[in-house]
Amino acid sequence: MLERTLAILKPDCVRKNLQGEVIARIQKAGFKILGMKQLRLTKETAGAFYAVHKGRPFYDGLVEFMSSGPCMPVALQKENAVADFRTLIGATDPKDAADGTVRKLFADNKGENIVHGSDSPENGKIEVAFFFSERELV
Ligand code: RTP
Ligand code: MG
Repeated sequence: MLERTLAILKPDCVRKNLQGEVIARIQKAGFKILGMKQLRLTKETAGAFYAVHKGRPFYDGLVEFMSSGPCMPVALQKENAVADFRTLIGATDPKDAADGTVRKLFADNKGENIVHGSDSPENGKIEVAFFFSERELV
């Protein structure tokens, strides 16, 4: 199935100037970039994006981190995009991530883990639409 997934190059990725490194890996893995932008999330918007995690112990820290500086949402398309992207980035905690994955290579810890990836095709559509209007997707 041709799917959409949303990547976000998180504030740690931007702070470490790793945007190009991560985008290159995404492109080499065969993803088509439909849209890309840079913005700084407000706490309100970061909280809304990760609303599914509201109430979890890491939620407040996650909202703080995601609003701590600029990030780059990237709308991606590919066959099997959601699962393939999560394979490319690796497990949430870089300690558990497979060798060669983006998080294993670049992430410092489970909270600051360089990149977001949608967790289902349904959420891929919803999350792409959270950041991009249809006319921004080409
Ligand atoms: P993401 O949504 O950002 O792609 O990450 P994920 O699916 O691999 O992990 P998820 O469970 O959805 O958690 C969302 C983000 O919250 C932060 N987190 N910190 N310190 C902790 O125990 C902890 N657990 C989660 C991470 O930034 C994680 O990516
Ligand atoms: Mg998630």
